[in-house]
Amino acid sequence: MKSDVEYLEFMWPLRHFLITCGQIGRKSNIMAVSFCMPVSKEPPLIACAIAKEAYSCELIKETGEFIVNVPPPELEPRIYYCGFHSGRDVDKFAETGLTPRPARRVKVPFIDECLAHMECRVKQAMETGDKMLFVGEVVEAYADEDLARGERNVEFTPGGFPRKIYATRFKER
Ligand SMILES: Cc1cc2nc3c(=O)[nH]c(=O)nc-3n(C[C@H](O)[C@H](O)[C@H](O)COP(=O)(O)O)c2cc1C
Repeated sequence: MKSDVEYLEFMWPLRHFLITCGQIGRKSNIMAVSFCMPVSKEPPLIACAIAKEAYSCELIKETGEFIVNVPPPELEPRIYYCGFHSGRDVDKFAETGLTPRPARRVKVPFIDECLAHMECRVKQAMETGDKMLFVGEVVEAYADEDLARGERNVEFTPGGFPRKIYATRFKER
């Protein structure tokens, strides 16, 4: 016997990333994103699906740039803060205490407390249902020195299913 399910739950675990967008000192923002994956090795491309109504969607459209930041597990509460608040209402850098740092090739700041950073320039953008799918070319990629040297393994956040955000069925559970 098989029963109907909340299908999205069966796509998880998905890694949780913090996407930064906007410009340092001017409308910069942080968003929690799980719909994010590599889609080409050469050229290096990453695709992120961002809700059309998200402030981040507006900023990425405006500047054509974003950074995928890889958060360590201890940032989980702040990932959830960034995933439940909009940059239209709050300054997420100020509220979370995360530190914006100037990036190498894009105007978007990266998050100092994260482990690794992929600077992306939008190559393609397409509507996919309730999201905009941004395909970004990775123009720079860097990480904490010990990780880059292979002296430490990356510890990812558990990447559990954010039911409050994605449940389309069984919302009461
Ligand atoms: C763990 C987690 C993962 C999320 N993944 C995505 C995602 O992949 N795409 C998306 O559009 N929203 C995702 N969200 C929801 C956004 O982060 C949320 O709508 C956020 O408030 C948007 O912020 P903004 O309006 O400042 O851009 C996620 C939330 C959480 C907590």
